[in-house]
Amino acid sequence: MKQEQKPSGGYRYNRISFFLNGRFRSLEIAPGISTLDLITKQLHLYGTKCSCNEGDCGACTVVIAQPREGSIVYEAITSCLYPAAKLHGKHLITVEGLGSPQLLHPIQKALLEHHGTQCGYCTPGFVMSLFACLASISHPDHESILAALEGNLCRCTGYQSILDAAAELSRTQDPGTIVPQWCRDIEPKLFAFDQLPQEVHRPSASHFQISRYLLPKDLDQLKEMLAEYPRAFLIAGGTDIMVQVNVQRKRFGTLIDLSNLPELNQIKLSRAGIHIGAAVSYTQIMDSGIVRCDLPELVRLCRLIASKQIRNFGTLAGNIGNASPIGDSLPLLLVYEARLLLSSQRGCRECALQDFFIGYRLTVLKEDEFIREIIIPIPPRSAFIKSLKTAKRRAVDISSVVSAIRIEEDGRATLTFGGVAAQPVFSEFFAQSFSPTADWSALAELVAREFTPLSDVRGSADYRRQMIINHILRYQEAYHA
Ligand SMILES: Cc1cc2nc3c(=O)[nH]c(=O)nc-3n(C[C@H](O)[C@H](O)[C@H](O)COP(=O)(O)OP(=O)(O)OC[C@H]3O[C@@H](n4cnc5c(N)ncnc54)[C@H](O)[C@@H]3O)c2cc1C
Ligand code: FES
Ligand code: FES
Repeated sequence: MKQEQKPSGGYRYNRISFFLNGRFRSLEIAPGISTLDLITKQLHLYGTKCSCNEGDCGACTVVIAQPREGSIVYEAITSCLYPAAKLHGKHLITVEGLGSPQLLHPIQKALLEHHGTQCGYCTPGFVMSLFACLASISHPDHESILAALEGNLCRCTGYQSILDAAAELSRTQDPGTIVPQWCRDIEPKLFAFDQLPQEVHRPSASHFQISRYLLPKDLDQLKEMLAEYPRAFLIAGGTDIMVQVNVQRKRFGTLIDLSNLPELNQIKLSRAGIHIGAAVSYTQIMDSGIVRCDLPELVRLCRLIASKQIRNFGTLAGNIGNASPIGDSLPLLLVYEARLLLSSQRGCRECALQDFFIGYRLTVLKEDEFIREIIIPIPPRSAFIKSLKTAKRRAVDISSVVSAIRIEEDGRATLTFGGVAAQPVFSEFFAQSFSPTADWSALAELVAREFTPLSDVRGSADYRRQMIINHILRYQEAYHA
């Protein structure tokens, strides 16, 4: 892992330009400041609330409007984890923009009429999550509403009143009535936005956790920056990094943000498979036609990762770069035989994902290298591919054990796990011993003995061994169904 960089004398600010509730703003922001801190501490808009500051509660939810593939998308994000520098060129919509006590927005009115608000602390977050949902989907069904709200916690209402309000909104409203005209007026300006963020150097006595936040505009600039600051940290969505900033108070020297790079923002198909750019969010993966068609299990798994507000800017590359043994995507990517395209100023190289991890949170990535894309060969339709995640809740929860299986038509099989060793692992025993007629129960007992999981807050070693067995038995059921 990279060592911390000591901040050099003086501090770098970013001058970013964006739209806030229908008005153009151009501001100097402290390096790495979150959107939540920008809104509340610098712009003194207090409607957006802070509760956990680590992505778990949704009280800080705001909506970002930005161009994507020829249209404007409205997406809810947790502003406590969203670096404000990412706002450049986008439209930030907060609860203050939507309505006022004199003139409530239809969503606020419905929540009020259905008693969907009590202490009110969570309410701005619910309003903004519903706004993004109803702005994006005409008459969303119950499942879509639940998905939109899975990242919002409420201590008081019991949720039913909020769901009743959402159901009425879904019946009576559509994007035309939900999205105010002042949002529509901004949309063409987002397409035409051509300013670049500026780096402003200021000597300052203030003490920032991050001394420099860089936003390269293309791959060449990124490579130059990595050559100049070889010990810089990369940030894609920021949903792992910003937790370290907010909660662990970790200090970073230079952060280089990959999210503006067009080359990293695409999903494409080649003979080698599906290429997912390193800045592509989980939501973009789930919405992609080619992924849905050829990698349906990846879409199903993404749906179980974090919450809607986090999937809207968290990335698969960040899950890999984080190299956590319980990263949810890793076992499935391993059975897909995914490869990584790694890039630096010296050129590109490909690396099989299984060779990428070399120990607990250790990878083969060199200091000036970055993951450019994830390449997933399209498996044959006859292959049986499934993934399972054990966690205490369905949404917004990290796994205790996560696994994936692949069985080919000819009986060759691979089984992978996260959460049972220092890094995601294959079961060699399963690969050697599996046959379609094998005794799955006996196999499961023996696979469980192959690993020595740790005990931690998410589960004891014994619990994890039992989960290994349970996962294999669930795969047996699905395979024979
Ligand atoms: C509330 C909450 C719930 C969560 N739930 C889940 C969950 O259910 N399952 C799960 O697996 N994770 C979960 N996470 C963790 C996190 O959201 C994921 O790991 C996500 O995929 C990280 O992506 P990111 O783009 O935000 O990463 P970032 O925070 O931007 O980066 C993560 C790491 O990857 C490195 N990195 C990023 N991009 C690159 C690149 N292109 N090349 C090389 N290195 C790179 C960064 O330097 C950093 O070390 C959760 C996080 C939160 C806050
Ligand atoms: S404050 Fe809880 S998710 Fe941001
Ligand atoms: S109304 Fe009190 S937390 Fe939701």
